[in-house]
Amino acid sequence: MSVDASSHEALAQRLEELLEVESFPPPEEFARDALLNDPAVYERAAADPLAWWEEQARALDWFSEWETTLNDSRPPFYTWFEGGTINASYNCLDRHVAAGLGERVAFHWRGEEGEERDITYAQLHADVQRFANALRDQGIEAGDVVGIYLPMIPEVVVAMLACARIGAPHNVVFGGFSPESVKERMEVSEAKALITADGARRKGRTAAIKQSVDEVGMPVATTIVVRHTGIDCPMGEGDVFYDEIMDAAAADCEAVALDAEHPLFILYSSGSTAKPKGILHSTGGYLTGAAYTHRIVFDLKPETDVYFCSADVGWITGHTYIVYGPLMNGATSVMYEGAPDYPDKDIWWELCERYGVTLFYTAPTAIRACMKWGEQYPGRHDLSKLRLLGTVGEPINPKAWVWYYHVIGGERCPVVDTWWQTETGSIMIAPLPGITHCKPGSATQPLPGVVAAVVDEAGDEVARGKQGLLTLRQPWPSMLRTLYRDDERYVATYFEKFGPRTYFVGDASREDADDYFWVIGRVDDVLNVSGHRMSTAEIESAVVSHPKVAECATIGAADEDTGQAVVCFVTLEGELEGTDELVAELREHVARKIGKLARPKRIVWADDLPKTRSGKIMRRLLRDIAEGRELGDVTTLRDPAVMGQLEQRIAARRDEADA
Ligand code: WTA
Repeated sequence: MSVDASSHEALAQRLEELLEVESFPPPEEFARDALLNDPAVYERAAADPLAWWEEQARALDWFSEWETTLNDSRPPFYTWFEGGTINASYNCLDRHVAAGLGERVAFHWRGEEGEERDITYAQLHADVQRFANALRDQGIEAGDVVGIYLPMIPEVVVAMLACARIGAPHNVVFGGFSPESVKERMEVSEAKALITADGARRKGRTAAIKQSVDEVGMPVATTIVVRHTGIDCPMGEGDVFYDEIMDAAAADCEAVALDAEHPLFILYSSGSTAKPKGILHSTGGYLTGAAYTHRIVFDLKPETDVYFCSADVGWITGHTYIVYGPLMNGATSVMYEGAPDYPDKDIWWELCERYGVTLFYTAPTAIRACMKWGEQYPGRHDLSKLRLLGTVGEPINPKAWVWYYHVIGGERCPVVDTWWQTETGSIMIAPLPGITHCKPGSATQPLPGVVAAVVDEAGDEVARGKQGLLTLRQPWPSMLRTLYRDDERYVATYFEKFGPRTYFVGDASREDADDYFWVIGRVDDVLNVSGHRMSTAEIESAVVSHPKVAECATIGAADEDTGQAVVCFVTLEGELEGTDELVAELREHVARKIGKLARPKRIVWADDLPKTRSGKIMRRLLRDIAEGRELGDVTTLRDPAVMGQLEQRIAARRDEADA
């Protein structure tokens, strides 16, 4: 389809106009009907934060009421709702079924080849109970860690909730990670079982998941295999099929009353070192944050809304805003298995039209891709039911914001830019769509109950407009409790810099004159590629594990499409020469070690890397040359000549690309 040139021009002009607008008030109609439209909520929460969080926790069903709302006697080890008992699966399912909502659709599931399945709350409830029993039949008990490595299919939700039902913390690994990464995560969490699939589909092809998992060998007693693609699937000792153990299991399984602080899940995320961090979340506090934020940030009206979050369940966004938040709130969601451009680049908009999506949540990188593909793709579909749009994962550039607002939202929908992290469990800084005047590029203000501040290295608040370090100054219920079996690293990573009462985020930010937060990006060695979090150290150690590589320094270079792109500076063993074949080989090697998402976009051969006299690699200088900037201070380098050579290599590459 070709774009009508004059309408394209009109669009460009409108976007230019919108870029001039400093702030967007909530659309009138939206504000009138919004769940929250009185700014006094902020003051009420600030006046008595504990009472505020208690009120949010009361929105859930507790088996027994807590005794202590917040126990902060041992900071930074905080507990919430101690003494209370609760179950996540009960709150997602049983209580809705008991309230007569069993026939409501929980998920409109859509497979890549167009298959459709509507799964009601009652069906999910039945499947989860049966699978919880099946897990027990396999010897899984409360406290046992269960790994999950599944594509975006309904069984992934069943698996997570069945674990939650019996108190077995799940450890979901994103399907884009390699089996080697899965193995590492199973090892360090001492998982008892792994739930995976025969195969996964991606853009018309099928990947043999079970087989590739076997090739690496998993350190678990039991592997449960969902037959999803029907691909041939080797089964060994300890391997069982999901459908077979489901058939053999009893139908009824009561949800276990668990302590509020019982671990609900571990989710591995990248940090500053090569070893991923096992971020541990509790049950009561996490659920409180997930349900609360999903309701107020998306202005959720479960009777009439249809919600679509395009993330993958393997990330925290999927945990909180595909599974726990929406289900606890009784929402109807769309769940889509595939890629945004398969079978064509309008699939998301087709789904929005088909299911009448009203609330849509995605990442800035995806919006930028849609902009590139062109407005004709959304233009093919009726998106008039949409009433709110959200983004997450990285700062959104104003151009993408106004495109999203105009082309997808028809200028009717507030755009909520939500800032948060795997560690925070739920959204921390975001607009309240019926109240906040949005500024494109700013996540705006902390939600009621959350206190954020931008500080300098000494922990003192910086002046408005000045860049500093983002911190959270008050514990909140859905915060991580620790790093799994590594309390020391938990303290060192988040609470050493400013003490046990100030959470160190790891992001740079500034606050403007209206007290709006503008998050800039990470200040540590964590990369953000297409909203996916990765560690430079992890990539470096993967590259260096290749026998031909001597040394590697990895940086995230600014990238128009993906926010940041992985660039590796590599020195080779002995007299080896860098070739195009070796580039391909190294990229493949990283994909095998970590996953395709970590594959370097560029590899730059270097005879030597810029190091200080004490041997520390100066990544800052590498970023400067990769992004084509004037070099910063090079006087501390052991051998400043190194930079000249690297600059030449980069320039030569640029000439090649231009030619
Ligand atoms: C970045 C994803 C700016 C930030 C939920 C954070 C953002 C990291 C935003 C966490 C946003 C996330 N604006 N930056 N709206 N949302 N980030 O753990 O650097 O995968 O620290 O959690 O993503 O990534 P994570």
